[in-house]
Amino acid sequence: MAPSNSKQEAPSRLFIIAALVLLGTGMFWGVTGGLQYLIPGFLKSYLPFQKIRPLHVSSVVFWIIFSSTGAVFTYLQQHTGKKIYSRLLIKIQLIIFSLSVIAILISYCAGIFGGREYWEFHPILALPIVAGWILFLINFIKSAGSFRNQPVYVWMWFTGILFFLFTFLESYLWIFPYFRNNVVNDMTVQWKSYGAMVGSWNMLIYGSSIFLMDKISNSKNYSHSSMAFLLYFIGLFNLMFNWGHHIYTLPTHNYIKHISYAISMTELFILGRIIFNWRASVSAAKKNFHKTAYRFLVAADAWIFLTLLLAIIMSVPGINLYTHGTHITVAHTMGATIGINSFLLLAIAFDILNDTCLSFEPYKKLFNRGYWLANISLFVFWISLIGAGVVKAKWQLSTSQIPFSSMMLQLRPFFIVFFISGVVMMTGFLCIIYPLLKNNVLCYFKFKTTGKIQTHYYSPAA
Ligand code: HEM
Repeated sequence: MAPSNSKQEAPSRLFIIAALVLLGTGMFWGVTGGLQYLIPGFLKSYLPFQKIRPLHVSSVVFWIIFSSTGAVFTYLQQHTGKKIYSRLLIKIQLIIFSLSVIAILISYCAGIFGGREYWEFHPILALPIVAGWILFLINFIKSAGSFRNQPVYVWMWFTGILFFLFTFLESYLWIFPYFRNNVVNDMTVQWKSYGAMVGSWNMLIYGSSIFLMDKISNSKNYSHSSMAFLLYFIGLFNLMFNWGHHIYTLPTHNYIKHISYAISMTELFILGRIIFNWRASVSAAKKNFHKTAYRFLVAADAWIFLTLLLAIIMSVPGINLYTHGTHITVAHTMGATIGINSFLLLAIAFDILNDTCLSFEPYKKLFNRGYWLANISLFVFWISLIGAGVVKAKWQLSTSQIPFSSMMLQLRPFFIVFFISGVVMMTGFLCIIYPLLKNNVLCYFKFKTTGKIQTHYYSPAA
């Protein structure tokens, strides 16, 4: 593999830096939303929950999209040892994406919506995202060269990019009356596309994680192994067919839902197995050198199992009836996007951004504290959401007609814990991302003025 730091990587690193900014600001919106759970009228006239929720969800979804794009570009260069086909296209893509996200967030603040859940912005703003993604696809194909004898992560990146484009377009089929006029069809297509879209970005993230594991263990055994290719095919199969569990409450055939849910379970299980096996094979010295990246992989490993556990419980039809529309679904989504996606992406961000002109040594303690704060509070956060979900689920199906206001009073202790753990979690994440952002931004400008990149390799491990 080529050395990790080069002038060529600068634009792709910028994607990750922008992503970290989105993560920081996104959590701020999340905490504000958590406060609105506790104080229902809080900021109602300026930023009500209807605005705060999309501000939060879009920011964190774009954190995932920006950082996985940056990871693919950086790792592709390290894999091939060559420049990306066009640095100009990366820059154009970055500018298009950044301007689109700024426009989306401003439009939410101004109360301009028009989209659907998760993409609540006006559909016109989807056009630049599609255009930017097409540039990504072209740049990737041209840079990857031949697909013969490529390790699994190159295939994962390729299918992830291709299917994201497809499913993103599919999620906008509702703009055509043919799809919109039939509620069941409309919702089926909508949730199918969302399920597959998450599968697509998982391809980008899992592919980059496998690249990182190879890099840490200094071997390509995993990425050429039959287990890794099995994971890839199961992931692809999942991406195409696992969406049935999203339409559990729609009047469609039960066998479709059961088969697709069974398929979706296999993907997390196999990824967990790969990370687990890989960990055992890395020597202690290598582990120490990359310890921060390694630690995040370990944390993601634990969250894969917790998420899997919750998902299996939620998949039982009798239980799904209760959990639908409660905070248990939110616990599942946030557990996966924070515990799995964000921890894997932070491992990658550390690997890519830790060679700067300034030392990270003074931040050692801060990283450690941040890591433990984020992990422990995420667990409390997750449990509080499940607790609130259980109370709401019981109320939804209760025959004793308890008023909504009484149920909300019962949820209050869970919301207090949710809010406090959310603030602690945000603090933990900020302790981790602040030094990364500070050193990279300072060194970027230093590079701009001197034209030289001085690297200061560092293993931010305790
Ligand atoms: C890495 C950080 C985070 C990520 C990736 C993340 C992700 C998400 C996602 C995907 C949703 C949509 C859930 C769904 O519709 O099922 C969501 C909702 C939400 N998140 Fe976060 N989140 C993060 C941090 C936080 C923090 C620190 C808080 C603070 C309390 C928070 C509070 C909320 C709230 C209040 C909602 C709305 C739930 C509802 O609709 O009732 N999030 N988050």
